[in-house]
Amino acid sequence: MSTLQASYSKSPEFTAAGQEFPTVDRGAFVGAMSGAVTGVNVVTTDGPAGTFGVTVSAMASVSADPPMLLVCVNRRSPACAAIRENGVFCVNLLAVHQGDISDVFAGHPREGEAFDFRCAEWQSTVTGSARLPDAASTFDCVVDSGHDVGTHTIFVGRVVDVTATESAPLAHCRRAYCHPSTLPLNS
Ligand SMILES: Cc1cc2nc3c(=O)[nH]c(=O)nc-3n(C[C@H](O)[C@H](O)[C@H](O)COP(=O)(O)O)c2cc1C
Repeated sequence: MSTLQASYSKSPEFTAAGQEFPTVDRGAFVGAMSGAVTGVNVVTTDGPAGTFGVTVSAMASVSADPPMLLVCVNRRSPACAAIRENGVFCVNLLAVHQGDISDVFAGHPREGEAFDFRCAEWQSTVTGSARLPDAASTFDCVVDSGHDVGTHTIFVGRVVDVTATESAPLAHCRRAYCHPSTLPLNS
């Protein structure tokens, strides 16, 4: 397996020769992106920088060999600097019954305090981050790299432990929570 690590930043091969393109309107971008169906995750971290959690839809698998994933966290969120300093995080892919936990870590609790870990029962992971035992899945990670892009930092994590339950995952689309259901064959 190649060990070559490549990083690209506005390299010439990714720009159309000599052409200037406009930046799309922010509202149009956000509106169009709201049509994406995503999972809902609470990304937690613990360590010298403290204990933090934030609700994140921007999570994706990057590689299975080795197992790696990414999350995008707004640098305005205190969790962002904490993940950077702690060097670890855990992705809790929420189950369909955990919309209330998502709201707590999005800063809009249905009751109680925003960002308050007392909203649920947690376990400590190998990295010391907080895990929800009844989440659909959890991915405990060590930070491999961080990339500042626009307002967010993309954290690439090397996955050191996972859990999975039978619970259906919570989904989010058009600014609402929803649940995935299987379509009949061939539809
Ligand atoms: C469904 C959902 C998905 C979100 N996805 C992200 C994300 O991918 N990255 C991120 O930095 N913030 C995301 N947020 C927003 C943060 O959770 C929220 O901005 C943060 O907790 C701070 O809240 P505040 O801006 O109201 O103070 C999401 C929020 C919700 C409800």
